[in-house]
Amino acid sequence: MSATYETRGNVAVITLTNPPVNGLGYSTRLGIVNGLEQAEADPAVKAIVLTGAGKAFSGGADINEFGTPKALAEPNLLSVILALEASTKPVVAAIHSVVMGGGLELALGCHYRVVAPGTLVALPEVKIGLLPGAGGTQRLPRVLGLETALNMIVSGEAVKSELLMQAPGQKLFDKLADGDVVAAAVAFATEKIDARPLPKVRDLKVTHPNADAYLQFARNMVGGMSKNFPAPLKCLDAVAASVKGSFDNGMKAERELFTALMFTPESKALRHAFMAERATTKIPDVPADTPVRDVKKLAVIGAGTMGGGIAMNFLNAGIPVVMLEMKQEALDKGVGVIRKNYEAQVKKGKLKQDKLDARMALLTTTLNYGDLKDADMVIEAVFEDMGVKETVFKTLDEVMKPGAILASNTSTLDVDKIAAFTKRPQDVIGTHFFSPANVMKLLEVIRGEKTAKDVLATVMQLGKKIKKTTVVSGVCDGFIGNRMIEQYSRQAGYLLDEGATPAQVDKAMEKFGMAMGPFRMGDLAGNDIGWYIRKRRATEQPDLRYSKTADLLCELGRFGQKTGAGWYDYVPGKRDAIPSKIVTDMIEKYRADQGITPRKISDDEIVHRLVFALVNEGAKIVEEGIASRASDIDMVYLTGYGFPLHRGGPMNYADQVGLFNVVSAMKRFAANPADDATFWKPAPLLAKLAAEGKSFS
Ligand code: NAI
Repeated sequence: MSATYETRGNVAVITLTNPPVNGLGYSTRLGIVNGLEQAEADPAVKAIVLTGAGKAFSGGADINEFGTPKALAEPNLLSVILALEASTKPVVAAIHSVVMGGGLELALGCHYRVVAPGTLVALPEVKIGLLPGAGGTQRLPRVLGLETALNMIVSGEAVKSELLMQAPGQKLFDKLADGDVVAAAVAFATEKIDARPLPKVRDLKVTHPNADAYLQFARNMVGGMSKNFPAPLKCLDAVAASVKGSFDNGMKAERELFTALMFTPESKALRHAFMAERATTKIPDVPADTPVRDVKKLAVIGAGTMGGGIAMNFLNAGIPVVMLEMKQEALDKGVGVIRKNYEAQVKKGKLKQDKLDARMALLTTTLNYGDLKDADMVIEAVFEDMGVKETVFKTLDEVMKPGAILASNTSTLDVDKIAAFTKRPQDVIGTHFFSPANVMKLLEVIRGEKTAKDVLATVMQLGKKIKKTTVVSGVCDGFIGNRMIEQYSRQAGYLLDEGATPAQVDKAMEKFGMAMGPFRMGDLAGNDIGWYIRKRRATEQPDLRYSKTADLLCELGRFGQKTGAGWYDYVPGKRDAIPSKIVTDMIEKYRADQGITPRKISDDEIVHRLVFALVNEGAKIVEEGIASRASDIDMVYLTGYGFPLHRGGPMNYADQVGLFNVVSAMKRFAANPADDATFWKPAPLLAKLAAEGKSFS
């Protein structure tokens, strides 16, 4: 059982012992109930203290039980809370560090609450598309008032205990205890031994001078801010039920709203993303206790777009960085951009001046490889050219100390080839950051054939330190993200050939929820990148079919925003994408040359052709072992490519559509003579799962 029982004088102390955060799994719940029974049965026990061991009072539901029958097995959380509330002896919660979700609902079932300063208090269920389902929406407003409780429940954000203590009329905490919170709670319980009747949160009333008007105002605000997500408004409905009617009716409303949310695709997507994020750090053959190398100092080669952004990540985390370039001007420019980025944050009030100074003080520059010899890791971000990479890695091999990690930020080149330029391929790895590297969450970690396990473990841990979502990818052309996006772009091109306009395709994808449609994305990233890759492909895979429209666009010099024109026209200094007559004419001429009669294409067809193009390639990536699991692919798309969170990533979206339906749609697309039948051959894994009625998850 994950709870212990002891007595201190005439007070029983029940301590949750389910590391890391005392999740309220089955054995913890059982432990609480058994402890309560033992205390009730012992005449020498006059009061009870409930607390948590280690780093939390309780972080809430046990995520390992998510979606399993164990989560609901009796005693479920509602029953445990009822048992606490019904105890004939006073129950005092001794709260410290973290009290969240079900943990807070548990504490609200106690008669009294003693809290340590600095405790993080939250009902974060909304973040996984749910609402607090064990009385939180009914009890929190009773102790904190309608407005504060509603804010906490709708935002899911944590508030510090001492701040809540200051809320006028608050009844959440009875005492703020410095020092040993359990000792303070035992003392408090001793004072309350004879207090009767025992206070129950359920007996309090939610008072507000003008609840109806306030709730209407809140409804407008929340509705406007949560357009793709149903949970925030349902949270509001549940809290509204605490104002009117009885506690029991409020609980009934909470239960109904909770159950309805549980089955929405949005909630499923959010829960999937929550679990997927945690799964990314698990690498099947690299156990969690793999030793890691110490990285106290980093070197970055190349102070361009990526080098500067990469350096900022480490400066932000307090890790000193030395940056190397070929020329002083390039160094000065790179450092200037970093400083400007920080200054912009200071102007916006997001960074304090002394932090800016401290970060800049961690940055040194050099033109001399000799200055890198004390760095524990180096990340190369020079031009994307194998010859240049070869020179750089041969030099690094000579100058870097033994055991230093040698990483490349290449986006398209073969990391195994790069590793072979050195005599220490086991120390070489890919760290594929996304632009702007100081902003984007995603870091693809490229595991070479010879990359040592401790190197991989070190880089994964470092990724966490710099607050990235790290996803491991094997070596292949484009790694996970760009390999898939190529198929997406090919389909987007075919859509133009068949009759769609760039604006129609972009609008359909943006309506689906993508941050940006494929053509706006091309204009932002630079259409010349794909052009360059297609030229290389033309020799490697001469039979690969493409729409030629993107090449024609590049032949017109329309590389995107950086040249002031791409798939769209741009007004200098602005980013608005204006549909272009030149591009329309270009596409129409191309169609005429090919003898294509344009047809009207529905938004649905656009979305499904583009998303299923991702899914099919994703299935191949999982099958080849390039990604460890389908959910890693979802994390790549959610954090690196603007895929809508409420869809949970392409693979999760396919699961929700149903893989059978995905494959049927692909067969339909293949039958379209204007499309590409070989393109739509289902990946073997996808075909197999669909035939067996299974899903990627
Ligand atoms: P960039 O052209 O902005 O910067 C490259 C920098 O490297 C320049 O400042 C150049 O002076 C310096 N450099 C070139 N050769 C060097 C050498 N031998 N020694 C020292 N410095 C040298 O290029 P960017 O965009 O920063 O790309 C760098 C790498 O990152 C490339 O491998 C690229 O494929 C990759 N990448 C780029 C992304 C992007 O969106 N720009 C995204 C992800 C990866």
